[in-house]
Amino acid sequence: MALYDLQHVRNALTPLLNRPGRPLTPGDLEPYDQLHYLGQRALDHAVERLCVKPGAEVVDIGAGLGGPARYLADRYGCRVTAVELQPELHELSEELTALCGLDDRVRAVRADALTLGGAEWSQRYDHLVSLLAILHIPRREALFGVCRDLLRPQGTFCIEDFYARRPLTDGERSDLAGLVACPYLPEEARYRDDLTRAGFTDVVWTDVTDLWTPWVRDRAEAFRGGYEERVRLHGEPLAGRLLRFYGAVSALFAGGGVGGVRITGRRD
Ligand SMILES: C[S@@+](CC[C@H](N)C(=O)[O-])C[C@H]1O[C@@H](n2cnc3c(N)ncnc32)[C@H](O)[C@@H]1O
Repeated sequence: MALYDLQHVRNALTPLLNRPGRPLTPGDLEPYDQLHYLGQRALDHAVERLCVKPGAEVVDIGAGLGGPARYLADRYGCRVTAVELQPELHELSEELTALCGLDDRVRAVRADALTLGGAEWSQRYDHLVSLLAILHIPRREALFGVCRDLLRPQGTFCIEDFYARRPLTDGERSDLAGLVACPYLPEEARYRDDLTRAGFTDVVWTDVTDLWTPWVRDRAEAFRGGYEERVRLHGEPLAGRLLRFYGAVSALFAGGGVGGVRITGRRD
């Protein structure tokens, strides 16, 4: 998937990483390391909704480049375990965390979330966050079972994810699978049912489609508007793949079939 080709992130980060003087901060990295929508603001919502306290133990499922984890640690004093499947993202995440001087509060773990289990993981966390990662993982029963087991009793979660607002067309399914690495997308009733059957309660479903649709449209238009510069920075093949990716996501939201949701709840 184009978004996970780290060459474009490294290209964009080079001036920052070569900057002499003060150390990097999560604020410096926000344009590059928040691989979800609305940047660090999304984390502010999660913290408010979950009543996260300083020192809280948080696990981030599908942590990407570790941007959400660093922000939670730096801004809110959390201790965060950032679980990421892809080795290249995990390695850059560790690098950036060290450059920000946050490695005492952020632990990056390279793992498939579906494999987390055993005493080392069981009931360790006060909160679980997962931003735009669950859409990549079709085995919901297994995944939500793991998520539940990671949380202490009464522990809470905040998920941001895609969902299907109506039965999707073949074209939408094909774009989701081929361009977004999203092979399965449930509608609301099915999603809620999967969470309830995994043992989550007090589930609050907040549709954020109206917030995300203009955001993904503006991202696609900004990329298209600055395309020549992007080609100079990243080269034609990568810039072209990113252009198609951003355009496809924007079209999926504009078409009304794909929506965005913020879900909170707690384990029983
Ligand atoms: C769109 S990115 C979001 C990253 C991060 N949550 C953020 O908001 O910046 C989704 C991430 O989920 C990761 N992911 C997908 N399947 C996973 C799995 N089974 N276990 C752990 N991470 C996974 C991907 O590798 C990717 O880095």
